[in-house]
Amino acid sequence: QDTKERCNQILRNMEASLTARDRVGIQDFVLLDAYTSESAFLDNLRKRFHENLIYTYIGTLLVSVNPYKELDIYSKKQMDTYMGVNFFELPPHIYALADNVFRTMLTEFNNHFILISGESGAGKTEASKKILQFYAVSCPSTKLLNNVRDRLLLSNPVLEAFGNAKTLKNDNSSRFGKYMDIQFDHQGGAVGGHILSYLLEKSRVVHQNHGERNFHIFYQLVEGGEDELLRWLGLQRNCQLYSYLVQGDCAKVSSVNDKSDWRTVQKALSVVDFSENDIEHLFGIIASVLHLGNVKFGADPRGYAILNNNPEMHWLSKVRHRKYKLRSALESDLFTPFTVDHAVYARDALAKAIYGRTFNWLVNKINESLANKDSSRKTVIGLLDIYGFEVFHVNSFEQFCINYCNEKLQQLFIQLTLKSEQEEYEMEGIEWEPVPYFNNKIICDLVEEKHRGIISVLDEECLRPGEATDLTFLEKMEEKMGGHPHFVTHKLADQKTRKTLERGDFRLLHYAGEVTYCVVGFLDKNNDLLYRNVKEVMRQSKNSIIKHCFPSTEPDSKKRPETVVTQFKSSLVGLTEILMSKEPWYVRCIKPNEGKQPGRFDDVLVRHQVKYLGLMEHLRVRRAGFAYRRRYEIFLQRYKPLCPDTWPNWKGTAAEGVQRLIKHLGYKPNEYKMGRTKIFIRHPRTLFATEDAFEVCKHELATRIQAKYKGYRVKGEFLKQREAATKIETCWRGLMARKERERRAWAVKVIKKFIKGFMTRNQPACVDNSEYLAFVRQNYLSRLKDNLPKTLLDKNNWLTPPPIMQEKSKLIYLYNLQLKLLTSSMFKGKKENYPFSVCRPFLDTRISEDDINVKVLQMIQHERIKYSVPVVKYDRNGFRPRLRQLIFTQAAAYLVEEAKIKQRIDYSSLKGVSVSNLSDNFLILHVTCDDIKQKGDLVLQCDYLFEALTKLSLVTSKQSCIKVVQGSVRFDIQPGREGFVDFKSGQESMVYRAKNGHLMVVSMEFKKYVHFSWQFQ
Ligand SMILES: Nc1ncnc2c1ncn2[C@@H]1O[C@H](COP(=O)(O)OP(=O)(O)OP(=O)(O)O)[C@@H](O)[C@H]1O
Ligand SMILES: [Mg+2]
Repeated sequence: QDTKERCNQILRNMEASLTARDRVGIQDFVLLDAYTSESAFLDNLRKRFHENLIYTYIGTLLVSVNPYKELDIYSKKQMDTYMGVNFFELPPHIYALADNVFRTMLTEFNNHFILISGESGAGKTEASKKILQFYAVSCPSTKLLNNVRDRLLLSNPVLEAFGNAKTLKNDNSSRFGKYMDIQFDHQGGAVGGHILSYLLEKSRVVHQNHGERNFHIFYQLVEGGEDELLRWLGLQRNCQLYSYLVQGDCAKVSSVNDKSDWRTVQKALSVVDFSENDIEHLFGIIASVLHLGNVKFGADPRGYAILNNNPEMHWLSKVRHRKYKLRSALESDLFTPFTVDHAVYARDALAKAIYGRTFNWLVNKINESLANKDSSRKTVIGLLDIYGFEVFHVNSFEQFCINYCNEKLQQLFIQLTLKSEQEEYEMEGIEWEPVPYFNNKIICDLVEEKHRGIISVLDEECLRPGEATDLTFLEKMEEKMGGHPHFVTHKLADQKTRKTLERGDFRLLHYAGEVTYCVVGFLDKNNDLLYRNVKEVMRQSKNSIIKHCFPSTEPDSKKRPETVVTQFKSSLVGLTEILMSKEPWYVRCIKPNEGKQPGRFDDVLVRHQVKYLGLMEHLRVRRAGFAYRRRYEIFLQRYKPLCPDTWPNWKGTAAEGVQRLIKHLGYKPNEYKMGRTKIFIRHPRTLFATEDAFEVCKHELATRIQAKYKGYRVKGEFLKQREAATKIETCWRGLMARKERERRAWAVKVIKKFIKGFMTRNQPACVDNSEYLAFVRQNYLSRLKDNLPKTLLDKNNWLTPPPIMQEKSKLIYLYNLQLKLLTSSMFKGKKENYPFSVCRPFLDTRISEDDINVKVLQMIQHERIKYSVPVVKYDRNGFRPRLRQLIFTQAAAYLVEEAKIKQRIDYSSLKGVSVSNLSDNFLILHVTCDDIKQKGDLVLQCDYLFEALTKLSLVTSKQSCIKVVQGSVRFDIQPGREGFVDFKSGQESMVYRAKNGHLMVVSMEFKKYVHFSWQFQ
């Protein structure tokens, strides 16, 4: 079931794509099955046209059908879509072609041109504008480049205003040929440009056929010019008033907005570097041409022309032609008076010359502004947009030139595509069946062949002395060209054709169709004579542009200037040379109907164009031929990274290298051919696949190179870091080693000194043993401190002193003994527990300085601390016990609680100290107290009573003030308030406040105390 459904789905999809294809046709004619059928070709074109698909390829050639309506396919988004995408990946578009040309130019670094051809109104100018706009958006941009870009873009409206006009074929018909070079730097930035213009149709200035207009600029000035400007130029806002503007009876055209175009031109002129002065003079000239057209001549009695009071002459002088000189120049030449007709002729000749030369000045001026002064190498893309092939009811010298030009371009196209392509296959030895095509060389020769061609005959007639007229020219042609298959006149034609020809006509069978030319005016237009007087007046003009256009160095009339057609011929030869040196690309424009109508596809008209544009032949050559060819060397050079055998260098011949390369890439035998010097690739897709692979490979190579380079950089960095680390390490090690050495040297010195000291320890003190002995002394003393015997009388346990300390040791021992003696003198036989204190050695202090609060230390240190001991202090009121520190300095006794000094007793105010005769540890310090605010006597209990009192008596030298009392001690709580401490013995020791308010200290009975004490000894 599933499989069936899937098959249906596939079928439906196929059907849908087939219908779509049926509807929109094929994008590239090369894929057309019936590629030899003109009808199939036309069908495809028509189908696409009706779907608004106006572009179709024949390989890389773009066929464009004028839609005659605005299509939404030229947006910025569309441009972005086509930028940098492979040519055949997206639907055909003029942007795809532009992008392809641009990228080929960048990769191959060579010059290109895009030939845009087609008959008048087929869309050539529009196509060239689209290409230019695409480059303006897609090229790299900087402030400088944007400036160039704006000038390139805006040169267009200026040139169109001055060089385009409404014709019957096209409302904006180019009446001059234009070849524009866009110069790019190697990064693809548009850096400059240059324009070549070809033969402007000057006759339009003075004459327009019915339904046609003069050049746009005239109408723009009259319709759009500011009031003030018009007033200054003496113009009125009404085209009907100017005879040069109304000959075609068609001053207004609905598709042209002269007013807004005027504004565009004004803006463009300022961007393209025109000064105020330039603009003023330029419009002065345009106005002067209009005034000139209105100049009328009267006739004097002899029939000679005279200029009556023409107001135009006033305005002409205002725009700086000298009035009187001009007047005489228009009435006569070198004292030969003109007839009225003659004068009108001279006037028109002047108007044409002024306009024509101003146009050339304009092109030069634009070129100056586009010029790139940088001399670095550039590549260019040339855009050729020239007037298209045209056939009117009456065709004159201008159409002859225009159609001749198209003939030449067709010839170039044939040479570059059909002929050279086939010749190349032959040369390269590629099997090839020649495709027949119509070569229009025969017509080109008919027109331009030396001595025999129409141009030669025309020039001859113009230059020969005697009465040469347009008709004698026709006769000469009949003489020379009679019998030529592409040339007919009334006289030469057969019966049937003769009916369609006037007597003064000749007919050329151009590649694009028959055109009947009327010989009237050929000689005049070819001579393009300007009377000497007129020229002279122009030379003296104050208008800077006119002055520039009529230089005084111009060869005088004795030496005839080249005729117009000869100049044109040479300029076309020059153009061909320019184009031949570049790579060609083609846009073939087709006009779908004669009515400028959207959606109308006139089969006959289109079939005719397809035929004469040689599209069928081109398709046939394309189908049979190869899309791409390159010299082996170039191909190998570009793609060699794609094959390991050819990368980085191939040793053998380039052809062998290419063979190896394409074998590696897997080209199928029918996809390519190997020529003598080149490889031929049949389908673009093969090349694109190769190019894509190259793109990928390029990135890989770049990544590899990048990685190598990064590795190289990091390695360098690493080596540097390592070197630095080693250096730091070395320095550090050196430093440490030096320190170690110093330490060792010091140690050796110390050890040496120690040994020496040891060896000389028994000698009298000298330099050698002083430190050793100091050490021995210190060592002994600190050992002694830690190992004092339990009882001072235990002499055997006194640490044995080293020899040098024997004396000292004895002294220490004796000092302690002395203290004990002092204690004994004070307490022996007086206080019950004295005997138990005898054996306990005295220490220097009972509280080390570390345990005394820093603040206290800071306050009393200067008095030198002699002894400190923890005590319990009994409050004077209530006798609550408090832990305190008792500190004796040289000058006073301090009672300290943490960081606070609670009481200071200067020794001078110490009246006496009372202790009981019993075995308690209480002592009462009596102080002299004069001030009621002062604190009174102190009641303390101290575990080291005897030691503390001995020290006190030593410090104060007041041994006698220590009294041993019995029963009760009176003391001053504060001056005038007394308290009592009562002592008695009991079963166990206690301290409490008795009912009578006295502090009762009960100490253990002596017997019991003795027993108790011995237990703890
Ligand atoms: N791509 C397009 N999209 C819309 N309109 C177009 C397009 N191409 C041409 N046209 C219309 O056709 C008119 C004629 O086109 P264009 O001026 O380019 O013809 P041309 O080939 O330059 O003719 P000529 O040889 O007379 O100068 C344009 O004014 C415009 O209205
Ligand atoms: Mg044009």
